[in-house]
Amino acid sequence: MAAASNNGAKKRILTGVRPTGALHVGHYVGALHNWIELQDQYECYFLIADYQALGDHFHEIDLIRDSVLQVTLDWLAVGLDPEKSAFVIQSYVPEFAELAMLLSFITPLGMLERNPTLKGELNELDIEQRTVGFFNYPMSQVADILLPRADLVPVGDDQLPHIEMTREVARKFNRMFGEVFPESDSLIGRIPRLSGTDGQGKMSKSKGNVIMLSDDADTVTKKVRAMFTDPNRIRADIPGKVEGNPVFEYHDAFNPNTTQVDDFKSRYREGTVGDVEVKMALAEALNNLLDPIREKRAYYEANMNLVEEAIMSGVSRMRVVAEETMTQVREAMRISSYTTNWK
Ligand code: TRP
Repeated sequence: MAAASNNGAKKRILTGVRPTGALHVGHYVGALHNWIELQDQYECYFLIADYQALGDHFHEIDLIRDSVLQVTLDWLAVGLDPEKSAFVIQSYVPEFAELAMLLSFITPLGMLERNPTLKGELNELDIEQRTVGFFNYPMSQVADILLPRADLVPVGDDQLPHIEMTREVARKFNRMFGEVFPESDSLIGRIPRLSGTDGQGKMSKSKGNVIMLSDDADTVTKKVRAMFTDPNRIRADIPGKVEGNPVFEYHDAFNPNTTQVDDFKSRYREGTVGDVEVKMALAEALNNLLDPIREKRAYYEANMNLVEEAIMSGVSRMRVVAEETMTQVREAMRISSYTTNWK
């Protein structure tokens, strides 16, 4: 285990997002809220995976560029702390790409071909979007996790096949070349994926069914007013359905006043509360959550030097770990030192 552990220090976490837009409240309950808590217990690396974003956004470079900044601001605003945790931009540490390339030579094609998450995503892409790079993104994600030799990877369950692949590749590498990598474990968030405000399944910015962390209070209130509820309930005195109703799903996720939520639920089922009252209470709960986040975001927007520092300090911490790992990897694979004993 010697090479794989890190001297009895805190366990390491790596997790990340693809910078393809600013973050929304679904990211908050599904991931960020949990990451904030992990920061004290673990040595965390939070990755902005801009290489990976090229996978299906190679024709939208400006969107990726802008999203790298938006994600960084969102992270700072919700309380990820660059002094505790390393914020990393993937392309600032080219070793991510080097490790992905080296690992690709011991990774059977079948691992990608069988990956159910990848399969589903490929099916949704047009033929010219199905690039080698996209097909290979789980491989690059394996390298994201193994470059810092992460013990734990907090992710949603759609990412589990990538974590399983990471473990398989690490095992194979260790068996072939000697113990370098840990077998990283996933850490699944408690809260299932939040629906869009239209109640039509997944959130997606292009569908306009998301509440952004950077939305102002009026925008949030408007979006909540327009939320999909029980479509059969055309009047407030008709008993309504709470299950599968996104307004209540959001109340459960964002309203800390559970007494109020329970009361709304029973009155909704009886037909003794109007949609507007329920929605206004939800808008208020969301705005209470978002107010301090907006304030912090504005502070960082006015102090961009701090945003830059957050990134540069995280990147330099990652570079140290990357160099350690790559030295071990190159030695283990016995490459790139051929000429040293040619004299
Ligand atoms: N694929 C992840 C997503 O879309 C983002 C990601 C990139 C990631 N690299 C990672 C997640 C490494 C965990 C670990 O959400």
